[in-house]
Amino acid sequence: MSPEKEIEELRLELNRANYDYYVLSSPTMSDFDYDSKLKHLQELEDAYPELLDETSPTQRVGSDINRNFKQEIHRYPMLSLGNTYSEEEVRDFYERTRKALNEPFCIVCELKFDGTSIALTYENGRLVKALTRGDGEKGDNVTDNVKTIKSIPLILFGKDYPEEFEIRGEILMPWEVFEALNREREEQEEPLFANPRNAASGTLKQQNSSIVASRKLDSYLYYLLGEHLPCEGHYENLRQAEKWGFRISDAMKKCNTIEEIFEFIHYWDTARKNLPVATDGIVLKVNSLLQQKNLGYTAKSPRWAIAYKFQAERATTRLNSVSFQVGRTGAVTPVANLDPVQLSGTVVKRASLHNDDVIQSLDLHIGDQVFVEKGGEIIPKIVGVDLSARFMVGDKVSFIKKCPECSSELIRFEGEAAHYCPNQSDCPPQIKSRLEHFIHRKAMNIDGLGTETVDTLFKAGIVHDPADLYHLNGRTLANMERLGEKSAGNILKSLRNSKSVPFERVLFALGIRFVGETVAKKLARSLHSMDAIAAATVEDLVQVEEVGVKIAESVVGYFASETNRKLISRLKEVGLQMEISPELMAEKGNALSGKTIVISGTFSMHSRDEYKAMIEKNGGKNSGSVSSKTSFILAGENMGPAKLEKAAALGIELYDEEKFLELLNIT
Ligand code: IVH
Repeated sequence: MSPEKEIEELRLELNRANYDYYVLSSPTMSDFDYDSKLKHLQELEDAYPELLDETSPTQRVGSDINRNFKQEIHRYPMLSLGNTYSEEEVRDFYERTRKALNEPFCIVCELKFDGTSIALTYENGRLVKALTRGDGEKGDNVTDNVKTIKSIPLILFGKDYPEEFEIRGEILMPWEVFEALNREREEQEEPLFANPRNAASGTLKQQNSSIVASRKLDSYLYYLLGEHLPCEGHYENLRQAEKWGFRISDAMKKCNTIEEIFEFIHYWDTARKNLPVATDGIVLKVNSLLQQKNLGYTAKSPRWAIAYKFQAERATTRLNSVSFQVGRTGAVTPVANLDPVQLSGTVVKRASLHNDDVIQSLDLHIGDQVFVEKGGEIIPKIVGVDLSARFMVGDKVSFIKKCPECSSELIRFEGEAAHYCPNQSDCPPQIKSRLEHFIHRKAMNIDGLGTETVDTLFKAGIVHDPADLYHLNGRTLANMERLGEKSAGNILKSLRNSKSVPFERVLFALGIRFVGETVAKKLARSLHSMDAIAAATVEDLVQVEEVGVKIAESVVGYFASETNRKLISRLKEVGLQMEISPELMAEKGNALSGKTIVISGTFSMHSRDEYKAMIEKNGGKNSGSVSSKTSFILAGENMGPAKLEKAAALGIELYDEEKFLELLNIT
């Protein structure tokens, strides 16, 4: 292939991978492949400077800009680090540094946290700004969201911090939170996050900061910048920052020899697997700030630091077939069936292919040798095809047009990656999984009735929808295979007990798309009854905390269906709870009952969305404009002059954050 052609192809491939990674938050190329391809492209461009182009992926470091946030220029550009994958390259870095400095030096080894980077600005000990990396020059201002992260101090301890400084680090979603979030998304048949990094950056870009708060993000800070830092060394500065209240990793070591560096690398390559957050390598930094300054920067990264990346564990195996699974809401998921292969301690036979876009970008053919990686992910995924091993090309994998279960024509909604089977009422796996969802422990908790029995009852034509369950009789059940009188009695008992399951769980049990446990609770708390929810419009529903247009439309769509309305009235007839439970009513405080509150200005202790949620939770009403009906104003800093004037004219009291929180007994 001519160098020209090769350069063109590499650019195309890398640009596509960049788009998948940054824009779609759904990576299709492993870091290792990306870096080695980029390196190869750089070499080719160096050899053929006449072919250099300003739009080449070598000319930028990627961007995660989201137009919904205000963009701001970084005071100090956010550079990235040079990546290495071999001990040889670590040795080269060490030697380069030794020669360039020509004096004793010390290297700090740290973990490379695999989250999304953040730059925090503090003035007089207060957090004033949080910017994402963006394109390195400018980033998104996500201060409100960052304020919800508990490990990030809003006000610093002590007095010995510089008047103004920036601290950088990583925002992370701990494994445990990530797994729970994905479990919840799986239940709702929402697309899963591929890894905690995507989940963290996706969360940070949420417009609604109360969602950010609920997702329990964490942080580790690793780089201090400013004119008047307290110490001469990077390590010492971070230890100071720890005293001011930042989370600084303990896995940090000052090394005086290359052997100590390798010892650190080898130890953490294994030990990192027990950490609560994802890491993907080790960062080496020259400790002395003066030496850092002397070493300086290349166009893209510092010469005084480098990242050593751990190899993601990967295996090669044969793609035997692709099956398509139909879920509760009709979403069709492609799954790759593989020759069993050992990977990170487990045998992998299947890998998720997510959707048609992923299949297309991989250009999969049956019989291909594919690369499977687990890396930071739980669900193994196919990251590429070994083209050198493709001799006899099998059929190209393409997405099916008809439902594999009921043959209905599949549909794909605009802007969505998933295909759906629209035959909700008669497609067997959809009916079955709706029944399974209904009896689930977290829904109606009908524990006498297992998944298998439900499937048998469905196959026998006895049960078609949840309401049919309540018309089962003892004789039918006792006559079924593998069920005796005792089990039949237990089933009837747990069906009877389920009639006192609270309303919010009945609502969840219906399996409305995007209405998970939390959303069901919020809807129940806010609208109180099934009738009210069924009558609500999209505009009404989006007023409810955590309910956006997507969820609202799904709820309205559900109740618009005649079949669904009939099902609900039959469930009502058999005596299920259709109104908010007394327990949930009691949970809703009444400290602000009957009060209309206006929020104005900027706040330091909680975000605006959190205050909104507090008002709602305590029985108050949040309103946007000051009027004679306003009970008081929750006033932050820089409240608008027009509102101030109006409040004064109407004699409306201003509450600051402390006073408001005191009122709710939150201190
Ligand atoms: S130092 C100029 N230290 O890795 C040096 N980065 O490309 C600034 N990262 O964008 C970075 N752990 O998001 C540094 N202990 C650590 C890190 C770390 C993770 C990330 C960071 C950066 C990327 C390197």
